[in-house]
Amino acid sequence: MWWLKDVWVIDPSQKLSAPRDVLVQGGQVLEISSSMTEEEVLEKAQGESIDAVNGQGKFLFPGLIDVHTHLREPGQEDKEDILSGSRAAVRGGFTTILAMANTQPVIDNRALVEFVRRQGERAGYAHVLPIGTVTKGMQGAELVEMADMKEGGAAAFSDDGKNIQNGEVMRLALEYAKLTGLLIISHCEDKYLAGEGQMRRGVASARMGLKGIPASAESVIVARDLLLAEETEGKLHLAHISTVESVDLIRRAKKRGVNVTAEVNPHHLIFCDEVLGITDTVLKVNPPLGSRADREALIEGLRDGTLDMIATDHAPHTQAEKARPFAEAPFGIASLETALSAVWQHLVVPGIISMDRVVEAWSFSPAQRFGLQGGSLVPGSVADMVLFDPEFSEVIEPATLVSKARNTPFLHKTFQGFPVMVWVEGRLVQRDRKVL
Ligand code: NCD
Ligand code: ZN
Repeated sequence: MWWLKDVWVIDPSQKLSAPRDVLVQGGQVLEISSSMTEEEVLEKAQGESIDAVNGQGKFLFPGLIDVHTHLREPGQEDKEDILSGSRAAVRGGFTTILAMANTQPVIDNRALVEFVRRQGERAGYAHVLPIGTVTKGMQGAELVEMADMKEGGAAAFSDDGKNIQNGEVMRLALEYAKLTGLLIISHCEDKYLAGEGQMRRGVASARMGLKGIPASAESVIVARDLLLAEETEGKLHLAHISTVESVDLIRRAKKRGVNVTAEVNPHHLIFCDEVLGITDTVLKVNPPLGSRADREALIEGLRDGTLDMIATDHAPHTQAEKARPFAEAPFGIASLETALSAVWQHLVVPGIISMDRVVEAWSFSPAQRFGLQGGSLVPGSVADMVLFDPEFSEVIEPATLVSKARNTPFLHKTFQGFPVMVWVEGRLVQRDRKVL
């Protein structure tokens, strides 16, 4: 049995943010109360040994749930695999991750869904939930067997990495997904507007002499998908929202009652395109970093709930790929191990976003929307939990990362504030930054 003493519990599912004692037994939260005596705890343990943790000055919250990670298995295990990615997850404070389907081959049938799920179980760290593609071969034309894939364990459907350019295919996908109750996750990008663009079109792309992707490449598809979700009453989730116009469109759609949620990535909340230099392939990401105004709109959207969730879009690539010239390097930032600390350091500490909101947006909201276990510490809940120490300081060094990827903009930077204990189903899987 675990006894976490005098820890600041953040649990948005019960609107709790206060010091408490917490007992965990048999993989579940047993009790949360303002104080417990040694006798009371001994009695509840009924002879079982007690691991007591002094939680003073630390936060305890439900394990983070990341609805957007690329784990690259099967097919690109030089970038990442399910074992390394799910170890990186628990090191970063994530106890559930949804694995994107743009692997090689893409996850477009039940056998492959089952393969990803089994590999996740075999790894035994974060819960790994497979996302299936929407279309066969991710070709944007023919829908997959959604019901069958759901039976196999698919948690959602997405052609992420590409956009379904054909509006009729997207409309049918929203319509058919209703029968499964699962969401369609849309990577909003008009491929003709995006063209061969390498970064956001604007002053910075002109300065660097690179082809730009206009903000409208995202927003026109956001508008289309919102209208299709409204018409079909399908369940839509918008991935990695990055522009002022998209936030505005989502805000208005929600007022009309459209069944939509949206996510924002830490890098879009932290950086804008001004910081980019021609050698910064590590910050080359899709959708590209936007303007200052975009960043402000995203922060406001996250604050007011227009953007429901934070998600990493962990996109591991090899150092060799990222060492290519800017125009030839792949899009993506690897972030499972650094995302929570980066958000803490850049957004919570300066008072831009509260930790309560961060926890809500990264655990409770994803659990609710995707119908997943976790995201709550109400007694009886699964003990997927994070102990976060705001004082713990660490330099992000390649040697300490457990992900195979090194494509993080935070390499060699010092952060203060890290998850220092992580439990999955009551089992300790990370302690003092070491994956167990
Ligand atoms: C993603 C990847 O690498 O798979 N890259 C990224 O920059 N986000 C694909 C994608 O979602 O565009
Ligand atoms: Zn994407």
